[in-house]
Amino acid sequence: MIAVGLVLVGGFVWFSRPDASIGPAPIAHASQGGLAASGIVVPSLTGLAQQGEAEFIENCAACHGVNLAGTAQGPTLIHSLYRPSHHADGAIALAAMNGVRAHHWRFGDMPAIEGITPQKLTVIIAYIRAVQQANGVH
Ligand code: HEC
Repeated sequence: MIAVGLVLVGGFVWFSRPDASIGPAPIAHASQGGLAASGIVVPSLTGLAQQGEAEFIENCAACHGVNLAGTAQGPTLIHSLYRPSHHADGAIALAAMNGVRAHHWRFGDMPAIEGITPQKLTVIIAYIRAVQQANGVH
C-alpha cells in the first residue's frame, strides 16, 4: 500500500516538473519592461505608448510582430532603416494611411490599414519609438 502511494506521488512529481523546453516562451509584458524571448528589450512604457502598444497589436503586429519583432508577413521595425532620421513620424503615418509598395524587402506590399486614424497613429508612433529607442535604434 505504501509502495503504491510512493509510486503515485513519484509519478505526480515527475509529470508536474516544470520544463522550460515545453510550451511557448513567456512574453515579457511591456508594462513591466524586460527582455522578450526574441531578445528584444521591452521598455516600461508611458501611458501614451501603452495605448500605442494596444493599437499596434490590433493593427500592425499581424505583420510587424509582437514587440516589433517582425513576422513572415512583414519586417521588424527595430532596424536602422526605420530610425527617426530615415523614417520620420510622418513617414510612419503615411505608410499606415496609404500603404507601402514593397521596396526594401520581399514580404510584398503593405496595404493601407483600415480604420486607422491620426489619433491612433500618434500613440502607435510613441510606442514604436519607445521600443526602437530601447533597442538602440534612434
Ligand atoms: C498586412 C501586413 C502589414 C500590416 C498589417 C502592417 N504592415 Fe507595415 N509593412 C508591411 C510590409 C510588408 C512592409 C515592407 C515594405 C517594403 O518592402 O519596404 C511594411 C513597411 C512598413 C513601414 C516602412 C514604410 C516605408 O516607407 O518604407 C512602416 C513605417 C510600417 N510598415 C508601419 C506599419 C504600421 C504603423 C502598421 C499598423 C498601423 C503596419 N505597418 C501594418 C506589412 C504590414
